[in-house]
Amino acid sequence: MFQSRNIGETLGVSSHFWLNQLATIINFSKRLSQTMRPSSPIIGNSQPMCAIRQLIDTIADSTATVLINGESGTGKELVAQALHYRSSRADANFVPLNCAAIPKDLMESELFGHRKGAFTGALADRVGRFELAHGGTLFLDEIGDLSLDMQVKLLRVLQERMVDPVGSSRPVSVDVRVVAATHRDLEVEIAEGRFREDLYYRLNVLPVTTPPLRERSEDIPLLIKFYAERFSQKSTPISFAPDFMDALKAYQWPGNVRELSNLIHRFSTLFAGQRLSLNAMPTPMLPKGLKKLQEDHAAAHPAPLAEPQDDAALFEEPHAADVLQLFPQEEPGQVPFSAPPEASDERNHVEDIILLAQGIATLPPDGVSLKERMAQIERAFIEQALDRADGNVSKTARMLNLQRTTLIEKIDKYRLRSA
Ligand SMILES: Nc1ncnc2c1ncn2[C@@H]1O[C@H](COP(=O)(O)OP(=O)(O)O)[C@@H](O)[C@H]1O
Ligand SMILES: [Mg+2]
Repeated sequence: MFQSRNIGETLGVSSHFWLNQLATIINFSKRLSQTMRPSSPIIGNSQPMCAIRQLIDTIADSTATVLINGESGTGKELVAQALHYRSSRADANFVPLNCAAIPKDLMESELFGHRKGAFTGALADRVGRFELAHGGTLFLDEIGDLSLDMQVKLLRVLQERMVDPVGSSRPVSVDVRVVAATHRDLEVEIAEGRFREDLYYRLNVLPVTTPPLRERSEDIPLLIKFYAERFSQKSTPISFAPDFMDALKAYQWPGNVRELSNLIHRFSTLFAGQRLSLNAMPTPMLPKGLKKLQEDHAAAHPAPLAEPQDDAALFEEPHAADVLQLFPQEEPGQVPFSAPPEASDERNHVEDIILLAQGIATLPPDGVSLKERMAQIERAFIEQALDRADGNVSKTARMLNLQRTTLIEKIDKYRLRSA
């Protein structure tokens, strides 16, 4: 075996040279692996989503440039991936580049590559994204954020299909299908002098618009099911009672599918395997618009307040420890849990979430009706247990460590259905 020093000596080059080569190879393979993410399915049976799927099938194999427009989180990148993986270019690379994330000075080298020594810090040749996408697809995300200088250079490449690596006098020919996307209204950008009209027409040969989630609320249950299954840590994915599902369908989803997937991830982590009802959901867990829907729902359907004798039963039942698991019992010799964070209008939601994840509910700033909250918790657990036992009362009673007759009284009290 050679020692690394000997290779350099044998070929008459310095170890510095080999380090540079190694860095280039690692860099290249890192960027290549970023291009190999498999495409996720596009979920949704609403009319706009069916139309988009059909459009993707129609235009996937064309080499014409696509411009995808839509709010953030509506699936622009997903559509770009689908166009690539359904085209005859699928075996070559899908190369994404976020124009808003690359510093202005590095953009040219990122897109077109550079030759060693082209500028300070250019220690080795670097292949640009256009060359990396040769035979495949280049996805220029947030194209509305590209500087005017770079817009000129991009237009030239799109017309001539040749790139000039920085510091090289020899242009390189590239065969690349370009898909661009933006959440901006490019016609407004043109009117305000921030986007070149000629580049807009060059990009907008095949326009695709991804609709906001609030305009296709019939897709929401399907998306929720998809993400609940994806994020389920236990074998049973979380599920939602009808009141909660109605609120999720009515909510405006300003962050679109990205926001939905993050919320389902949060619920799946904190309430793994449970059936969630809107009234029982701690308010800090909900985005602002959903909190409002929760308040409206609670006003329209107040949780039945427990009768005094029922209250006594609630605390005396052997299952009380289970029902009260959000408020852990103090063990002898154990340090009592610390007080909830300062009650103020600007409560720290992150702390709330951490406390809740540890099983500790925080006291809201204005206090709480303990009786009402207990009833909510009791109802939510009975609902979940009934659901898990497929409505079988005896099984549900065993699961909750309750007498069958007591459970039946509570089912009647909360007007819950059983089989
Ligand atoms: N119709 C859809 N079906 C399934 N997942 C979707 C859908 N639309 C968006 N997503 C998911 O939402 C997230 C945001 O999508 P993305 O394509 O990055 O949005 P954009 O580029 O428009 O901001 C991604 O995780 C993506 O997989
Ligand atoms: Mg995006």
